[in-house]
Amino acid sequence: MRERILEILRSKMPAPVSGEVLSQELAVSRTAIWKHIQALKNEGYTIESVPKKGYILKEVPDRLKPAEVVANLKTKWLGHHIHYCELTTSTNELAKRLAGEGCEDGLVVIAEEQNSGKGRLSRGWFSPFARGVWFSVVLKPPFMPQEASKCTLLAAIAVVKAVNKYKGVQASIKWPNDVLLDGKKLVGILTEMSAEFGRINYIVIGTGINVNVPKEMVPEELRATAVSLADVAREPISRVELLADVLGYMEELYEKVLHEGFKPVLEEWKKYSSTLGQQVKVIAPDQTYFGEAVDIDEDGLLMVKREDGRIEKVIAGDVSI
Ligand code: BTN
Repeated sequence: MRERILEILRSKMPAPVSGEVLSQELAVSRTAIWKHIQALKNEGYTIESVPKKGYILKEVPDRLKPAEVVANLKTKWLGHHIHYCELTTSTNELAKRLAGEGCEDGLVVIAEEQNSGKGRLSRGWFSPFARGVWFSVVLKPPFMPQEASKCTLLAAIAVVKAVNKYKGVQASIKWPNDVLLDGKKLVGILTEMSAEFGRINYIVIGTGINVNVPKEMVPEELRATAVSLADVAREPISRVELLADVLGYMEELYEKVLHEGFKPVLEEWKKYSSTLGQQVKVIAPDQTYFGEAVDIDEDGLLMVKREDGRIEKVIAGDVSI
């Protein structure tokens, strides 16, 4: 009901909408409308009541509320179901639970804050309240389990395309899925999967974008390596618009993979890569070695030319430039 009221007020902005029109449109009493308006005000919406004219939506809160995200979304299906919470342990954990319960393909789980945000390689992810975009997408792709990394790679491209629209921002991708800005980490992506032999049940792509995390808020040990979009962008950033934009690119890239195959997306990934052509140190689960990152294969594995000329495919682990 509240979402419908917001939708109507938003469509008429900056003009007022009378309580009577709202009550007729939604088939409830004017008192009920008044109660919903009070509740929306409590949620942080600025709604002016003009005597004899009605309600005017003046300002929306800086929250990633489903109604706000949906109002900015241009997708056909991705993000049409949203699970929002102010606080959760980890949106990936929550998304996996909802996926296990049979949620829709394309569900997006959003939190303003995570108190147990998960990073790659058993690290954590610092996710303070309303300072970033912390979200997970549930996909049910018709891929083989070994192709799951395609989703991680396309998610990284989607984020880079969205953040690079801001003035002064030129982010790049460090294999496999870090998005770097000025050599520091702006975005982390953690992909988790449930699969059976030969088929994926679901993939959860968890993305954390540091939007406006002030340096003094960042834990000491991350300060030298983390960056926020607001540190670099020379224009204001709306988290809602940014999230909607990322989802738009994700859907577009995912559909491209489904209809045209992975090749065009892989080419795009290479364009944004800051890893290819670099000397890298590979920290694999079983060994550490140096070499040149020469290419990425069709499954998203990094190809590293070792000092003795052998080409090694990096499946898991970390590379440092
Ligand atoms: C990394 O280590 O680079 C990956 C970090 C991924 C963080 C995001 S924030 C939203 C989602 N929920 C989590 O718990 N982790 C991912």
